[in-house]
Amino acid sequence: MTHEAGEPKKAGVVGRRDVLSTIGFWIATVASAAILGIPSVRFAAGKSLEQVTEHWVPIGSPDKLTPGDFTSVVYSFRLKDAWREVKKEGLIYVRSAPRGGSSGEFLALSGVCTHLGCNVRWSKDASRFACPCHSGLYDADGAVISGPPPKPLRQLETRVTDGVLEAHI
Ligand code: FES
Repeated sequence: MTHEAGEPKKAGVVGRRDVLSTIGFWIATVASAAILGIPSVRFAAGKSLEQVTEHWVPIGSPDKLTPGDFTSVVYSFRLKDAWREVKKEGLIYVRSAPRGGSSGEFLALSGVCTHLGCNVRWSKDASRFACPCHSGLYDADGAVISGPPPKPLRQLETRVTDGVLEAHI
């Protein structure tokens, strides 16, 4: 059956067509916005959307380390991007010639307890790290001896650049 000019349309048929057309329009609009919009936002934001969590912390000359003992290093630096500035602070323990290792090798451990983030303390006499918050204990390689810490102290990558030992945070 055809509609003649001036004849009223059947409400049910025309309504369904309009609804489907409207849904199709909005799906196409949203998909286009997502396809074109996400890269545009990433481009405009530049590096500010990238995670800014890593940094090489200078420890000093490797010659200053006492073989077999840890040196503690407190670090503080600021990471800036387009939108924000983040202050990073922390504690690192570094030892030259790790057990089983050779000269020129280093063991760098994060001084942050893996339980709830307190700073651990190194005891040369006891040859272990103790956490003052909940009595967590770690051995000289950072492995958990006892207490609530769920995992070892985080081992950090090291490198020597222009005679300066650095640890990767
Ligand atoms: S924070 Fe170190 S044992 Fe709880």
